[in-house]
Amino acid sequence: MSQFWSPIVHTLTPYVAGEQPKQGGLIKLNTNESPYGPSPLAIAAIKEASDDALRLYPDPTGLALRQAIAASHGLDAEEIFVGNGSDEVLAHTFQALLNHERDLLFPDITYSFYPTYCRLYGIGFRTVPLDDAMRVRIEDYGPDCGAIILPNPNAPTGIALPLADIEALVLAHPQKVVVIDEAYVDFGAESAVSLIRSCPNLLVVQTFSKSRGLAGLRVGFAMGQRHLIEALERVKDSFNSYPLDRLAQAGALASWQDQEWFTRHRDMLIASRERLSLSLQQLGFTILPSSANFVFARHTDRKGAELLQALRDRGVLVRRFGSERIEDFLRISIGTDEECDRLLDALHQILN
Ligand SMILES: Cc1ncc(COP(=O)(O)O)c(C=O)c1O
Repeated sequence: MSQFWSPIVHTLTPYVAGEQPKQGGLIKLNTNESPYGPSPLAIAAIKEASDDALRLYPDPTGLALRQAIAASHGLDAEEIFVGNGSDEVLAHTFQALLNHERDLLFPDITYSFYPTYCRLYGIGFRTVPLDDAMRVRIEDYGPDCGAIILPNPNAPTGIALPLADIEALVLAHPQKVVVIDEAYVDFGAESAVSLIRSCPNLLVVQTFSKSRGLAGLRVGFAMGQRHLIEALERVKDSFNSYPLDRLAQAGALASWQDQEWFTRHRDMLIASRERLSLSLQQLGFTILPSSANFVFARHTDRKGAELLQALRDRGVLVRRFGSERIEDFLRISIGTDEECDRLLDALHQILN
C-alpha cells in the first residue's frame, strides 16, 4: 500500500503464476511448459536474427508471421493479430471486445487470469458453474450477458468441448463476442478456426507457449474476422507498437513452418499423457479426461495440499489451486517419460 498508487491499484488481485524455481534439479511439472524445447529451426532462426539489425525496431505488425499463420488456416493476414504471449492478446481482447454493459460470462473453474483482467479493466462478470463431472454445459450460457469467454480445452480441468458445442454456443449468441481460448487445443481438441468465416462474433486465441515449446519467447495470436482484429490493433497501438521483438518474430515463424517437429512432439506428449494417466489411476487417482498437456488428478484418500508438499519435498513441482471443489486436485503437466517416471516413483514413496 502506498499513497502514491493510483486508486485502481488498491483494488487489484494480481494473477499468481506457477513457481519458476531458481535452483536446478527439480522436476518441473507445474506450469504446462513443453518438456521438449522448441524446434531446432526456431533456435537457428533466433540466432540468425541476432545481428546488427537489432538496432532497428521490429515490424510493428508481425506481418510475415501473420501471413504464415493465415495461410495455414485459409485466412487473410488481416484476420490474424499477434502479441506478447496469448496473455497479452487476451488482455487486449478483454479491453477491446469484452467490456460491455452486461456481464461477461466464463466458467467458475477456469483460467484464473480472466477475473484478474476483469478487475483491471472494470469489466462486470458472472461465473457459470461447471456441472458435477466438471464439464462446461453450453446450455447454461444464457442470453443475459455482454460476451462469453471459454478455454477449450478448459484449464485446469483439461476437458474439451466438441466443435459442435462451440458452434452451437457461437450461433446462439450472434450479437455477442464469443472468445475461445485454445492455449491447449493441439493436444486433442478440435479448433474453432473453421467457424471464423461464417461467424462474425467468434475470436479464437492460440499460443506458441505449449505445443510449440516457446513459452520463453512470448508469442500468442488471435484469429477472427477483420472487425474484431481491428479492435485489438486499436488497443495495441494505444499501448505498445512493438509487442513482438525481432527474435520472437523470427523464432515463431520458423517454429510455425516446422510442421514435422510439431506433429512428432505433440504425438509424443499425447502418448506420455495416456501412459501417465494409467499409472496414476493404478495409484488411486481419479483423472479427468484430458485433451491438454496436463492432467487434473485427485487421490481417493489423500489431501491435495499434503501431496503437493510431499512431492515438493522430493523435488517434484506440480500445481494446486486452493478454490472450492478443486482444492484436492493436482494439476500435473506432462513431462518427458523420464520425468513422469520420477513423479510416479515419488508418489509410490509417499503413498506406501
Ligand atoms: C488457458 C490459458 N490461456 C492462456 C494462457 C497464456 O499463455 P501464454 O501467455 O504463454 O501464451 C495460459 C497459460 O498457461 C492458459 O492456461
